[in-house]
Amino acid sequence: MKPSNLIKAGLFLSISGLVVGCASALDYSGNTDARWADFKSWTKITQDRTSTGDPTGLVSGVHKGRDGYRDVYVNDIGLATNQGTAPYNYPVGSVIVKEQFDDLAAFKAQKPTDLTIMVKIRDSATPDASNWAWAAGYDAKLEEVNAFCSGCHSAAAKDDFVFTNEDFLKKFH
Ligand code: HEC
Repeated sequence: MKPSNLIKAGLFLSISGLVVGCASALDYSGNTDARWADFKSWTKITQDRTSTGDPTGLVSGVHKGRDGYRDVYVNDIGLATNQGTAPYNYPVGSVIVKEQFDDLAAFKAQKPTDLTIMVKIRDSATPDASNWAWAAGYDAKLEEVNAFCSGCHSAAAKDDFVFTNEDFLKKFH
């Protein structure tokens, strides 16, 4: 290759690298809710257990649909329950964060495009949807009532409204 072509090829690669590098990255910096600000340091319960497809048949277009890839993080308060066995009932203060990736390429590049969060705000002897609050986005405000989120998560009511626990990962991944 002529030196001028080499330079062109190099330019092209660096420009496309920049474009790919900028696409769809979520910003986890700045001022946000202390309950999940540092979720990246929590336990990634999906580590080496690729979470994709639509194993429950419920997601449809939600959570990036069938093509989506997901990583789920649980804070120390909720971890023992999540890794334990049924019946699940998370302690108050449990927080679960799900990073969503558009597809395998985005997952491999670790470029999530969406984030959803569940926070256990109240306790009861048996699972109750109103014990959870919801947020759709790292910078989003926590909502005590969100019928869209809790409605679908009611399919996991017996597991305290959380799908991704140890039994789920064993069964589906
Ligand atoms: C149509 C059904 C549906 C809706 C609506 C929905 N979810 Fe989910 N969610 C799921 C399923 C199914 C999973 C399990 C993993 C998967 O298949 O993506 C899940 C997983 C999660 C997880 C990881 C913990 C778990 O339960 O596995 C969080 C956090 C979460 N959702 C938050 C939310 C929030 C916040 C909303 C509302 C903005 C929401 N979800 C709306 C179906 C839904």
